[in-house]
Amino acid sequence: MAALASVLDRIDAEQDAAIRRLLNLLRIKSISTDLAYKEECRRAAEWLVADLTSIGFYASVRDTNGHPMVVAHHEGPAGAPHVLFYGHYDVQPVDPLELWTHDPFEPAVREGKDGHAIITGRGSSDDKGQLMTFVEACRAYKAVGGMLPCKVTIFLEGEEESGSPSMQAFLDANADELKADIALVCDTSQRDATTPAICVGLRGLVSEEVTIHAASRDLHSGSYGGAAANPIHVLAKTLGDMHDNEGRVTIPRFYDGVAETPRQTLDSWDALGETAESFLGPVGLSVPSGEKGRSILELVWARPTAEINGISGGYTGDGFKTVIPSHAFAKVSFRLVDKQDPVTIRSAFRKFVQERLPPDCRVEFKPHGNSPAIQLSHDRPYLTAAKSALAEEWAKEPIIKAMGGSIPVVGEFKTYLGLDALLVGFALPDDCIHSPNEKYNVSSFHKGQRSWARILDVLAKTQC
Ligand code: BES
Ligand code: MN
Ligand code: MN
Repeated sequence: MAALASVLDRIDAEQDAAIRRLLNLLRIKSISTDLAYKEECRRAAEWLVADLTSIGFYASVRDTNGHPMVVAHHEGPAGAPHVLFYGHYDVQPVDPLELWTHDPFEPAVREGKDGHAIITGRGSSDDKGQLMTFVEACRAYKAVGGMLPCKVTIFLEGEEESGSPSMQAFLDANADELKADIALVCDTSQRDATTPAICVGLRGLVSEEVTIHAASRDLHSGSYGGAAANPIHVLAKTLGDMHDNEGRVTIPRFYDGVAETPRQTLDSWDALGETAESFLGPVGLSVPSGEKGRSILELVWARPTAEINGISGGYTGDGFKTVIPSHAFAKVSFRLVDKQDPVTIRSAFRKFVQERLPPDCRVEFKPHGNSPAIQLSHDRPYLTAAKSALAEEWAKEPIIKAMGGSIPVVGEFKTYLGLDALLVGFALPDDCIHSPNEKYNVSSFHKGQRSWARILDVLAKTQC
């Protein structure tokens, strides 16, 4: 087996080529939520299969009812653990396009705000740049010694950003092929550019589209105003009712299953030194808007939310058109924590809306995401191994943190494959994931590769 030091040297020497490869992947417009990009999603999957094959993986594009999955296998030394690496090759839509300073699909290495080199483009951080950190680590092992230290299966999804509609069926149908000793997931962030992080908690997600219908057509607001029900008013009032003045969610049963965060956990988060100013300042805010009397990290890591993600209705174009619209529409999502049950939350929300529906109005719901919160264990051998590997690379102990975002597949790995997951990622809070001007620091990409090389090296000697 190649010595770790030569693998790390190889990674360093390959950086220009590694960046070129990532830029090629970033040029592919694999937006999973928009069917206009269906062929681009397939192209990204095919690109990855070709790249993994060139390293020596047995790789294939696997069709689903939606966008294809990529599955690639590589043998490891006898007795070494088998790891399943997960990432997603699909990306978020790019609108509003006019806010990008560079074309989202013409990625390049550019100078970032603070003078650091950055890789710009949609998916550079979420999640193509991150998944390529692992692929590059494998490439370096193969180039130096012809082998990998662990048996590796790489599993890449193309529908993560659209709620993974094909995942459960795929895991169910391919469980034997995908079973491993531990799942590695690279889709999370660090708190700052010099401190590595392992994530052990994720919030769940329930989302719902809601449409309120009233009159059978748009009405003149002079002729009908005062007499006709206005569905925008109904929607705005209902959604406004979801929070009280203390920032708590008022939907009955919403807090079922939500325990107070243990004092010890809160203290460990306080020790990280995040304040409302440090957290909100960089995005132009200063005062936390959620539940009163809780720390900023507790609010985003351990408390549930109800958010309106989009809302529309009536006339919003140039000029003015005095109408009472026939319907109004919103996308609402809930971040879940602890033991909150997605099914209960969805029906509690629907009941909440229905109870507020005035005469003549009708409501239509369309369900989306449906995943519970995830809490991973803090003290497993693979975690100790990863901690030591990261501490070596970054010359700093990793922080063990939670995250406000959701990666539903982590729960599904447990359910369908019986797998625990190790969540290590190198994204940064200012990477602008899901926003205009997404970027990934060149140093995140480089140190991410070195980190995975070290993690594979220690995992090889660990009884996962
Ligand atoms: N990589 C993110 C999750 C994430 C968010 C990690 C913030 C680190 C910081 C993932 O791709 C994502 O966007 N997840 C969605 C869930 C999905 C069902 C659309 C999310 O959290 O909204
Ligand atoms: Mn992601
Ligand atoms: Mn995402």
